[in-house]
Amino acid sequence: MARTKPRALPALGLLAAGLAATAQIVYAADGVVHLDIQRRSTVHKRALDRRANTIVETIDNDVHQGAYMADVKAGTPLQTLTLQLDTGSSDTWVVYTGSSICKGGDCADGSFDPNKSSTYTTRLAQGAFSISYVDQSSAKGDYFNDVFQIGGGTLRNLTMGIGLTTDIPFGLVGVGYPSNEAGVDSGTIQPYPNLPLQMVNEGLTRTPAYSIWLNDLESSAGSLLFGGIDTAKFRGPLTRLQLYPTKGDSTTINEFAVALTSVTAVSASGTDKLASASFPAAVVLDSGSTSSYLPPDLAQQIWTEAGVTLISSSSSSSSSSSSSDDIPIVPCSYISSTAHFGFGFGGPNGAVIQVAMSELVLNQVGTFTSGEHNGRDACLFGIRAASADSTLILGDTFLRSAFVVYDLANDEVALAQTVFNVTTSKVVPFASLSATVPSSTPAPSQASIAEGVVTETPKHFTAEKGFKSAAARELGAVVLAVGMSVGVGLASFFVL
Ligand SMILES: *[C@@H]1O[C@H](CO)[C@@H](O)[C@H](O)[C@H]1NC(C)=O
Ligand SMILES: *[C@@H]1O[C@H](CO)[C@@H](O)[C@H](O)[C@H]1NC(C)=O
Ligand SMILES: *[C@@H]1O[C@H](CO)[C@@H](O)[C@H](O)[C@H]1NC(C)=O
Repeated sequence: MARTKPRALPALGLLAAGLAATAQIVYAADGVVHLDIQRRSTVHKRALDRRANTIVETIDNDVHQGAYMADVKAGTPLQTLTLQLDTGSSDTWVVYTGSSICKGGDCADGSFDPNKSSTYTTRLAQGAFSISYVDQSSAKGDYFNDVFQIGGGTLRNLTMGIGLTTDIPFGLVGVGYPSNEAGVDSGTIQPYPNLPLQMVNEGLTRTPAYSIWLNDLESSAGSLLFGGIDTAKFRGPLTRLQLYPTKGDSTTINEFAVALTSVTAVSASGTDKLASASFPAAVVLDSGSTSSYLPPDLAQQIWTEAGVTLISSSSSSSSSSSSSDDIPIVPCSYISSTAHFGFGFGGPNGAVIQVAMSELVLNQVGTFTSGEHNGRDACLFGIRAASADSTLILGDTFLRSAFVVYDLANDEVALAQTVFNVTTSKVVPFASLSATVPSSTPAPSQASIAEGVVTETPKHFTAEKGFKSAAARELGAVVLAVGMSVGVGLASFFVL
């Protein structure tokens, strides 16, 4: 693949949003390494989303978006850096202090100067590191080995990339499969033990697995736990799912795709089982993508239920025939709706994650100037239609509602309903190398995963009414209207 791994979101902004750029090191003990990750709006030059699209680039921008960042240290003596956490890619890389982007003063998240590290070694061919992401940003440079510290755990010898030439002003922590490392894709290197594996090699954790708890949209920080789970951060069953091969490649598992087998809309007025010709659909869990991208037939039903208006990306007026480029918006007041969608995985009696409307209504992007919502603030809605043949993604709009364990040793993920804002912690480490996820049970029907999937669109949407009435209350203050940067104002949406 042409490394179309997104590094997600933020920021065309000059808006120095209110959240600070720090993550707290918590502890490293007993086979687990734990650090807090901080969600924040970054202040860099572009808004990014899964797809590069002009309108998307200008509007996905405010404190309701944002990357999940982690504080780390690298080199001897240690140099401090803040990197973006990304389950959709597999290399940890840092920006070179001497790169033009840093010389231009953009590297507020820290940069790395090999000249100042006595333990820096280049091991692989010069120029072997080259990564590019779907938004067409990229980084090129070398692979190197050095000391790396994260969450209070220190690795003596992690292979990383250094971005000598890049248009991204901060590095990333890619925690995906080694087979998905950029240099492996391009054939310049053999897979190397990346962060989750090197932690095992150096004895910090017992098995290459980690848990991510992103927490609420309104909250600034979540946590990343290597080598264990935190039973205080979820409720109900923690259900294990075999990773599901993405389309066209039925053997290799190199990304975190699971089988989406149902979506249910639930409101005070009723419950609808939504349909898709794509069920069971392979969807990638990608913390590096802000929005979720679902099959168009399914996205359309979700939009109907949620009262979404589609804005054509080519003009700023609404369009009647939908295309994957259309931008879904809703009145910002819908954030107070009590309705939710239930996402089902792994066949009958598999995992179900409830995603409330309050997690799906993102930043304000403009104002309705006509139609039934005339005069109301318009917010981006966090579920979009994937374009034909592109990867289906459950991004942060889904992941915040789930406690997710990524197990690279067993090619499984485990999902449970998250508990928001919990401040306690009950960490359970994995027992040993390749042990299954603690406290989890397997989805029982994965062998017959297609059983009972709904492929026929409901004739009536009984939940639709409840989605709207529950959301009728205006909630002006909840949505932080944020001035867009550089000449991009809030748009007016004229709805035909
Ligand atoms: C590191 O050293 C090299 C060689 O002396 C030099 O060209 C380069 O500018 C130095 N980099 C930084 C960031 O000072
Ligand atoms: C670091 O790890 C690489 C393999 O990733 C190995 O080739 C190299 O010898 C190691 N260096 C040290 C100093 O242990
Ligand atoms: C979690 O905390 C945030 C920020 O303090 C708050 O806005 C939000 O409503 C809380 N969420 C829940 C579900 O309690």
